[in-house]
Order: sequence, then C-alpha cells, then structure tokens
Amino acid sequence: MKKKLIAGNWKMNGGLAFNEALVRAVSAGLAPTHCDVAVCAPSPYLAQLQGLLAGSGIDLGAQDISQFESGAYTGEVSAAMLKEFGVRYAIVGHSERRQYHGESDAVVAAKTARALASGITPIVCVGETLAEREAGKTEETVKRQLAAVIHVNGHCISEIVVAYEPVWAIGTGKTATPEQAQQVHAVLRAQLHAATDRSALMRILYGGSMNAANAAQLLGQPDIDGGLIGGAALKAPDFLAIVAAA
Ligand code: G3H
Repeated sequence: MKKKLIAGNWKMNGGLAFNEALVRAVSAGLAPTHCDVAVCAPSPYLAQLQGLLAGSGIDLGAQDISQFESGAYTGEVSAAMLKEFGVRYAIVGHSERRQYHGESDAVVAAKTARALASGITPIVCVGETLAEREAGKTEETVKRQLAAVIHVNGHCISEIVVAYEPVWAIGTGKTATPEQAQQVHAVLRAQLHAATDRSALMRILYGGSMNAANAAQLLGQPDIDGGLIGGAALKAPDFLAIVAAA
C-alpha cells in the first residue's frame, strides 16, 4: 500500500531562527505518521535541517539538484553534496526553475537521471501555464514534460515522484478544482502505466495553492497521492492540517 506524501517547498524563504521555530512546531504537532512528510529547504540550511529533523520522521528535501556530477559549475549543488546532508528528495523542474532559469525538458531529464543514479528521489514537476490551458494544450504540455523524464536511459522510472502543478495555481490562491486536478492526474497515471507496471504504486502529487481548507477534497481524488505545498508549508498549523487531511 503506498503512503501519501506531503512535501513542503519553502522556496526562497526561511532563516535560522524561522526554520527552527517552524520545524519544532511541525514536529510537535505531527501525529504518528499515516503519510510521508518532507520539507524541501534552501541549500544553505540543509545542515541545520538535517540536525533539526533527526528522529522527527520528517524527511529532508532539496529544491534543485545539478545535472552535473562535479567540477566547474559555479553555483551548482551536486547530488553527492546533498547526500552528505541526508537529503532524500530533490524537486526537479519546478515551473519557477523552468520559467526564471530557462530549464528545458532536456535539463530536467538530466537532473532526474542524476538524482536517480545517486539514490535521491526526484520530485519531477509538470504543469501547464494559463495560456496553455486556455488554448486546450494542458494534456499535450504535461505529457511532453513527463515523456522527457520517462525516457531517461537506463533508470528505473518507477522511483520518481511526479508533481502536477498548474502554473496558474502556484502562489495565486487559485487552486485547480479536485475534478480538474484528477483529470490531469489520470492522464499522467496512464502515461506512467504505459512505461512501467509499477505505475499504481507511484505517487503523483498535486501542487498549487493547496491549503488547510481545500486539501481534503484534493487528496480524496483517486489519482492524487499527496501534495507539494508552497505558501502553506511556511505556517505550522496550515501544514499540519494538510498532513492530517492526507
Ligand atoms: O512547490 C510548490 C508549489 O509551487 C505550490 O506553491 O502552494 O504557494 O501555490 P503554493
């Protein structure tokens, strides 16, 4: 039986004191785990988080990972470096990386391969923009983005986590309806099914303005296996409410 995964993506937020207070509040309020919980923190805080999360049952995630193994890549953080801090997950291909850092499907595929080869579970983000949705291209867009990582050579694709994040729902307070989200998740599940006989065991998260009020309905959909939470992950009561709804 697969467990749901609730992963907080702190994005470029936090600070030493803030992180400590948030993690302590979340750990204190976490009931015995019925689902997997993770927080994806900015790189400079991974060492701090590794210490704070020890024994909490909460896994540590990074928000990105280099496609390269090591060398002259200024500003990049390698998989081996992340591993040294106990990182279990790495978000890959978040729309903010695609949009502000020009990450192509090919780069996202290379990062996915690097994570898998290093024993880090990539959380691969896909999602359409508002223009793509309005042009009727939602399915085409997410299928293209997922196909790029499915065809990564030689790696076990069933080890990835997929996150469907409609770009128009990210940080806007405008959530996809449970029906809209389920429709896309079903498309993604079918695509995974064609690639691996383990698709039913794979987790497809929803992300985009998920909060304490809408989490239960979204997480109640048959193909929604968790959430990738931005803003609401920065407030312990909201994050805990989402975990409780999973
Ligand atoms: O990675 C998380 C998503 O981008 C969702 O962000 O919950 O603030 O809309 P949000």
